[in-house]
Amino acid sequence: MFPKLILVSAAFVACNAMHSFGPLSSKHGSFNVYYLYTRSSLNPEVFNSSLASIQETSMIVSRNTTIIVHGHGGTGFNTLNPTVKDALLRVEDADVIIVDWSQYSLQSYSNAVNAVPSVGTYLGLLINQLVEAGVATLDTIHIVGFGLGAHVAGYAGRGVNGHVARITGLDPSGNQWGTNSNRLRSSDAKYVEVIHTDGFGLGANGIGTNLGHTDIYANGGEGQPGCLFSSACSHQRAWELFAASLTNNHLNAHFCNSFTEMRFNRCRGFLIPIGTNAMVKFGSGVFRINTGRRYPY
Ligand SMILES: *[C@@H]1O[C@H](CO)[C@@H](O)[C@H](O)[C@H]1NC(C)=O
Ligand SMILES: *[C@@H]1O[C@H](CO)[C@@H](O)[C@H](O)[C@H]1NC(C)=O
Repeated sequence: MFPKLILVSAAFVACNAMHSFGPLSSKHGSFNVYYLYTRSSLNPEVFNSSLASIQETSMIVSRNTTIIVHGHGGTGFNTLNPTVKDALLRVEDADVIIVDWSQYSLQSYSNAVNAVPSVGTYLGLLINQLVEAGVATLDTIHIVGFGLGAHVAGYAGRGVNGHVARITGLDPSGNQWGTNSNRLRSSDAKYVEVIHTDGFGLGANGIGTNLGHTDIYANGGEGQPGCLFSSACSHQRAWELFAASLTNNHLNAHFCNSFTEMRFNRCRGFLIPIGTNAMVKFGSGVFRINTGRRYPY
């Protein structure tokens, strides 16, 4: 017990010294639950951020690590988690970590927003510990966050000085983030890609603003085909498109010369693949993809 305590406090001191971690005084993130899925573990391995716990899992450094973070109203077992996890494991022998922060995400939207900084900060600590334990490197970590989870990913990335390989923000939440300087931003990872699906209009769940290196607006970033003006449906489409991009290769977006071109469906620039599991991606700017109404879109 004693040596473990020293390790944990040493990690906290080191992190505070780097000034890279946010509000550790808030303990929301201490309720995070982490589940590991691999091709060979049918049942998830539950672990925490202690080195001993991490080393008991079957995580190995030679596999890429994808960390999935749900949004408001989500848990470790619903919305994007089963679909994205299964699609990832189908295409790659990866370590997939699902973050469950349902202790707060199932509360009111405002309570969930309040928990985001701490949930993300603790996730950043976990990432540091994964590296410390030798089961992952920052170059092989990709954080995928949906809704509020995209901002959690931002905090986590900042916690490791923006050195994770990639963050994918799936329709990052807009409500209470429009003027929040701590929202997901491009300096949070080496490459930050954002897929916008419900960014505009009354009651939009997403943010209609560029946040990443590349900002991809599906069908103009609102009113997804087949969603019949349902904002919730358009919001979820972000992870449905991401999951489809893992197993299909037709989802390519055109570069737009301007935001106006994007909104008016005038983008004719070069094409980039949206989503995918590639650890290293390039590109910057605004892109638009027009999709079909049902899988694989
Ligand atoms: C972390 O998990 C280990 C089991 O692997 C357990 O012994 C330890 O008490 C846990 N630590 C916390 C803080 O929950
Ligand atoms: C990890 O990701 C890189 C880049 O996407 C890929 O080339 C490599 O094959 C992946 N590693 C494994 C073990 O699949």
